[in-house]
Amino acid sequence: MFLSSISLIALAATTTLAQDLNFVVAGGQVFTPGLAILNAPQPGTPLGGEQLEVALDVSTNGRLPLPPYDPESPSMIHNITIFLYSYDTGKNFTISNGTASGIFNASLGEIMAQEPGSTVKHVKWTWPDCLVGDGQPTELNSARGIYNISIRQSFRLNSQDHYTIFDLPISVTNSISNDVLRPTCDEISNLLLSPDQVNITGANTVPVMFSPGDATVVQAISRGDGSGQDGLGPTKPGATASQGLGSGAERVRGRAQWEVVLAVGAVMLLAL
Ligand SMILES: *[C@@H]1O[C@H](CO)[C@@H](O)[C@H](O)[C@H]1NC(C)=O
Ligand SMILES: *[C@@H]1O[C@H](CO)[C@@H](O)[C@H](O)[C@H]1NC(C)=O
Ligand SMILES: *[C@@H]1O[C@H](CO)[C@@H](O)[C@H](O)[C@H]1NC(C)=O
Ligand SMILES: *[C@@H]1O[C@H](CO)[C@@H](O)[C@H](O)[C@H]1NC(C)=O
Ligand SMILES: *[C@@H]1O[C@H](CO)[C@@H](O)[C@H](O)[C@H]1NC(C)=O
Ligand SMILES: *[C@@H]1O[C@H](CO)[C@@H](O)[C@H](O)[C@H]1NC(C)=O
Repeated sequence: MFLSSISLIALAATTTLAQDLNFVVAGGQVFTPGLAILNAPQPGTPLGGEQLEVALDVSTNGRLPLPPYDPESPSMIHNITIFLYSYDTGKNFTISNGTASGIFNASLGEIMAQEPGSTVKHVKWTWPDCLVGDGQPTELNSARGIYNISIRQSFRLNSQDHYTIFDLPISVTNSISNDVLRPTCDEISNLLLSPDQVNITGANTVPVMFSPGDATVVQAISRGDGSGQDGLGPTKPGATASQGLGSGAERVRGRAQWEVVLAVGAVMLLAL
């Protein structure tokens, strides 16, 4: 009994670590309230280098076909926009608003359109000039510091349209050199809205989905036209809205239930 309690506490501690900052991370992937799954970076990572790199799986780990989508498909990603913002520094930069602009693509074009045929979009964005530096910000008014990579997904899941916001915290504290030509911060700056104006909880009509143990079903139609995009996941040709297996209804076994299963399993092992 005593041992069982200890192992339960140990299990609880492990789970808490995994849920640190409320992120659902499994197998190195960060799960979002949307169809895209983040492969990199991980929450809280110090970043720098020539470019900011964000790797997004847009196939929902193989459950959703790639574009061009069948227009009748009950599930698809309409577009993804990404911003880098910080209430600490007061900055809000465009990574991609769907329209490429600036000589070196200071802001990137539509993310879903890049790397056609690839299930993972590697977003590579040149850090703008005001983030040049090395280490923690030293000057007052430095633009370096902690930021959110704000990933906004416009998508259709099982015949329902959604727009969700997922903010991933990073710290811009690693070296960003002055050796390359960089866009100016001004040319990609946006107004910074207050948390109430952005209203993330109000925007997000679906919870974080598709982590291990999540049973959300994606209804999608593959093109099946020999474009090599069929067979990428469970497809339901002929599925209709009335069959709508919404994510809520399909979440038969969420994270909490799996934890109970694990805990009970551990107790049973110890009892043997
Ligand atoms: C990052 O986003 C969270 C929630 O979306 C917010 O509470 C936090 O203030 C943001 N961090 C910064 C540095 O702006
Ligand atoms: C994204 O898709 C939605 C739905 O089709 C559309 O309303 C919106 O204008 C699109 N946004 C961008 C940046 O393309
Ligand atoms: C800029 O973006 C456009 C559209 O996404 C792309 O076709 C072009 O190759 C990019 N140019 C550079 C210099 O990366
Ligand atoms: C996209 O971002 C660039 C750079 O911030 C800006 O110049 C442009 O007006 C934006 N376009 C749209 C449609 O928001
Ligand atoms: C950053 O700017 C974009 C484009 O104007 C906007 O959609 C987004 O809500 C802004 N983010 C914040 C936190 O203000
Ligand atoms: C956020 O959005 C929700 C749902 O639309 C709404 O009920 C709530 O009043 C909004 N909160 C703020 C601060 O605007």
